Amino acid sequence: MSRAAGDPLYRDPDLARFYDLDNGWGEDTRAAAELARDATSVLDIGCGTGLLARHLAAGGRRVVGVDPAGAMLQIARAAPGGDAVAWVEADAAGLDLGERFDLVVMTGHAFQVFLTAGERRAALRTVARHLAPEGRFVLDSRNPARAEWRGWTPEATREVLAHPELGPVERWNDVAEDRDTGIITYTTAYRIAGAPPLTAQSRIAFASHDEIAAALAEAGLAAEFWWGGWDRRPFTPDAPEIIAFGGHICRQSRTRLRP
Ligand SMILES: C[S@@+](CC[C@H](N)C(=O)[O-])C[C@H]1O[C@@H](n2cnc3c(N)ncnc32)[C@H](O)[C@@H]1O
Repeated sequence: MSRAAGDPLYRDPDLARFYDLDNGWGEDTRAAAELARDATSVLDIGCGTGLLARHLAAGGRRVVGVDPAGAMLQIARAAPGGDAVAWVEADAAGLDLGERFDLVVMTGHAFQVFLTAGERRAALRTVARHLAPEGRFVLDSRNPARAEWRGWTPEATREVLAHPELGPVERWNDVAEDRDTGIITYTTAYRIAGAPPLTAQSRIAFASHDEIAAALAEAGLAAEFWWGGWDRRPFTPDAPEIIAFGGHICRQSRTRLRP
């Protein structure tokens, strides 16, 4: 199991059952679904509980959702529409399904679980390996220039959420920054009344636009569009998001991609 795949936030069933509380249908899933409108096949890498994958499969497409966290896939399978998706429990690195897709998505900031240039390159090679000749990919990553993690303190993040089965759940984060590597370690804590908190420590990276562009190029991919948010604003150095939408490098000059 890779280091990222071992994150208890996703691997531990007791913690994974809280994931959908914080990650519902929003601007990102809506925009990704719009990008998939002409795709007949979609690969979702780091699909988590499969909200997007299940929505896309409901439209009659072939959809494969890949994630190394069995606990996340367990929730995905059991959710409405879960039987319309092919779920694969696997790490992105080295994955070869022997199949190509019109669209490969790596959204919900799944790209940030890859901590080093080597890990990002390996994940993007998997994207390239599964992309049809005229296919497209999309990925999102938070812009390090905004240093969003500095706001992930217990004081700023503490709130009470309503879990559909467990009732009120207090949730908060805490964070530490390794200034040498740029890697962010954040704690996620959930507490149900009367029980000790369940906590996980997760590590993510905030790659810059240039680092992502370099990793794409090394994987044989290029973005034709760089957006700074899911509203498709152009990427600027202080944009909240870095969103790359593109295809194989060799197709860039021949096929104008339509977002
Ligand atoms: C922040 S969640 C995003 C989930 C989903 N894409 C969404 O939009 O809600 C990151 C996901 O990446 C998965 N992941 C972690 N390591 C991975 C790896 N090495 N390869 C593929 N996915 C990985 C985690 O298990 C988790 O489900």
